[in-house]
Amino acid sequence: MPLRPAAAAAVFGPVLDEATLDAMELCYHENGFVILRGIFAEELMDRMEAECVEAQRQVIARELPERYGSTVFLDDAAKADRFANYVEFINELSPAVLEAATDSVLLDALRRVLGESAWLRASTQFGIVYQDARPGRESGYSRIGWHSDWQAGPSLAVWPSTAFTFHIDATSPANGFLRVVPGSHRWATPAPYRNINNIEVPATAKPTGGYTEAAPPFEMPLRFEAVLGEIPVYTERGDVILHDCYLWHSAARATDESTTRRHVRGGYFAGDRGGEHAEEFLKNAAR
Ligand SMILES: [Fe+2]
Repeated sequence: MPLRPAAAAAVFGPVLDEATLDAMELCYHENGFVILRGIFAEELMDRMEAECVEAQRQVIARELPERYGSTVFLDDAAKADRFANYVEFINELSPAVLEAATDSVLLDALRRVLGESAWLRASTQFGIVYQDARPGRESGYSRIGWHSDWQAGPSLAVWPSTAFTFHIDATSPANGFLRVVPGSHRWATPAPYRNINNIEVPATAKPTGGYTEAAPPFEMPLRFEAVLGEIPVYTERGDVILHDCYLWHSAARATDESTTRRHVRGGYFAGDRGGEHAEEFLKNAAR
């Protein structure tokens, strides 16, 4: 399949009327991702930031059950300065996150690309996750490199899905950003032969995941290598990236050590909610 990469991420909003939704849907199916801009009020983003930061503080202070997150040591020698890159099930802790994740404009967009029966992953796997990615201590997020989200559960019936990312911080080369390969969601991408978590790929895995039977024009790199046709996705505060579960993507690390990159990530799914391989869905984590 010839590469027809988008030159830059397409942005839709703040109003998503029927004509805009038509254009957004076409763009999503063509490229595998879109940006929604201006759909959330500044007041909502302010509340989201405050609630997420407080939840992160509570995880670090061990005031919450382990279900919500664990801490790492910023300085392994001193073991004094604790930090948490993630707060899982943030939808249970932040009313603003839940409000945003069930926002009617967002749902209009998600139902266009996934269908009317799309369901939010709220209480399985890790729910909606608050992520604070910082240089040097990006935890699992920086280690994943190129992947499609489907590769974390190639046996499951939950797919397809669309991930949403609510950007609390704008992104740039200074603080890191998402890299995507437009159109790669249409390739029949193999289930990983080396899993992101070094877990053996189950025998029940489908061999490939994507919207066509066309093989990728080249292998997905295992780490952060340059990919022909990739583009950066730079976002503003309040932006929502929607990306498809079959889209090849990775995250570029920050180049400025003093920055933060904070966002909330979750997903809507169009397939079955459970099934015999649900346990795999609970264990494997593609962030
Ligand atoms: Fe991902």
